[in-house]
Amino acid sequence: MMKWLSAAVALLAVTSVQPQCFSENDDLSIPPSNDLSGIADFGLELFKEIFPYNTSSNFFFSPYSVWSALTLAYFGSGGNTQSELERVLRIEDKVTTLKNWRTLEFLYDMRQANRSDYTFKVANRAYFDKTVGLTGCVNDILQSELRVLDFSQTQEAAETINDFVSNTTKGRIPSLVEAKDLINAKMVLANAAFFKGTWLYQFKKSSTRPHLFYSTQQDYTFVDMMTQKGHFRHGVSEELGAHILELPYTGEAISMYILLPPFITGEQGFNAMVENLNATTLHYAIDNMWRVEVEVIVPKFKLEQLIGDELMDSLTRMGINDLFTPTVANLSSFAPDTDLSVGRSIHKAFVEVSEEGTEAGGATAFISLRIARPVGPEKFECNHPFLFVIYDNLTRNILFMGAYKNPKA
Ligand SMILES: *[C@@H]1O[C@H](CO)[C@@H](O)[C@H](O)[C@H]1NC(C)=O
Ligand SMILES: *[C@@H]1O[C@H](CO)[C@@H](O)[C@H](O)[C@H]1NC(C)=O
Ligand SMILES: *[C@@H]1O[C@H](CO)[C@@H](O)[C@H](O)[C@H]1NC(C)=O
Ligand SMILES: *[C@@H]1O[C@H](CO)[C@@H](O)[C@H](O)[C@H]1NC(C)=O
Ligand SMILES: *[C@@H]1O[C@H](CO)[C@@H](O)[C@H](O)[C@H]1NC(C)=O
Ligand SMILES: *[C@@H]1O[C@H](CO)[C@@H](O)[C@H](O)[C@H]1NC(C)=O
Repeated sequence: MMKWLSAAVALLAVTSVQPQCFSENDDLSIPPSNDLSGIADFGLELFKEIFPYNTSSNFFFSPYSVWSALTLAYFGSGGNTQSELERVLRIEDKVTTLKNWRTLEFLYDMRQANRSDYTFKVANRAYFDKTVGLTGCVNDILQSELRVLDFSQTQEAAETINDFVSNTTKGRIPSLVEAKDLINAKMVLANAAFFKGTWLYQFKKSSTRPHLFYSTQQDYTFVDMMTQKGHFRHGVSEELGAHILELPYTGEAISMYILLPPFITGEQGFNAMVENLNATTLHYAIDNMWRVEVEVIVPKFKLEQLIGDELMDSLTRMGINDLFTPTVANLSSFAPDTDLSVGRSIHKAFVEVSEEGTEAGGATAFISLRIARPVGPEKFECNHPFLFVIYDNLTRNILFMGAYKNPKA
């Protein structure tokens, strides 16, 4: 196989506001168009806020998972809380958003139904304490997402939430919340995502061997590198100052893109790449690639990430303030008579990259960023820090993304 990725995020609310329902009588049938590119804008902005890219840390998270959990909160929001979420999540109104949300769910379920060689599961739940009076209409619209629990029984409530997360992530994230996280909680928004894909062009295990990985030019260590030579889509982005390579998974729609600055540009090259990364530069790079013969060399790796309340801090810097502020949060569409606001956040993500993937070689071959169309055969050697993006080509949705900088971390 293999690529396992999973992520889960929980937003915990502790403590009301006015009633309002949405779209009870609206047509929620699946729309013909589903432009979801705003998720990528949101995800990349969040990535830049939250990833301490000038440090030697690796990083991994699911922007889509965070977007989904916040979108569920959005359905319950009103007033300025709603306006802030609309701006930051790049969504327009509740009806359109709900249609898009259901479209994605439908699409991902359909794809899953037709394939046995890959798994992609995403699930959302909003758990409310039994003392919270949920509005009837929201309950009807979000029937499959809303659950009522007894949060005074913190241990049992945590188990219920963790069972849901563990189940969705096939045991890769066995627990997300602890009993103590739920003391005084009134609502928990949880999202879990799991992806397991097989490389379309797998790496031979026998070709994997130790190579040096340079976290910096002075700090290097041996890591197991997977290698293969084949025809891959490859490109050069002048804006990002990086080479880009596509490693497709079976099923075609989902690929990993690796963004690798030239070795000689060092830390500055990596940081400049992150600074210049946005949906425009990423999509442009993805749309301007050519299939060439290339030797791909990529480390085998496993990353686990826990992001705590710094997720809320980053979202606040992006403009989501009211949702996290007890006196002003407006979640009246969920429960008009309960003061709800989100007080904590937890995001966990896990990725494992192994053979059944790619191969690469010498880094120096790719220094010139002036060549728009690279000539092959070349080497794409990931022996120094790179970014990777797990991307759904059809909806242009960033499912997961991360940075590999330090094998010793
Ligand atoms: C990274 O950048 C931040 C903000 O510019 C700064 O406060 C921090 O000291 C930097 N860390 C390192 C290791 O350079
Ligand atoms: C909360 O939002 C609803 C719907 O937008 C609005 O009617 C209500 O006045 C808001 N409540 C407060 C306290 O701002
Ligand atoms: C799944 O298979 C069904 C029946 O063969 C087909 O109608 C449908 O278009 C397929 N869906 C996707 C997303 O491939
Ligand atoms: C776990 O997943 C299975 C199959 O998807 C489902 O039938 C079961 O109800 C789930 N259990 C929980 C606790 O969500
Ligand atoms: C992704 O979509 C583009 C068009 O948007 C297409 O040219 C490309 O072949 C697709 N790639 C995969 C792997 O499906
Ligand atoms: C994306 O980044 C590029 C390079 O930094 C910049 O020129 C462009 O204005 C940015 N686009 C948006 C929409 O922010």
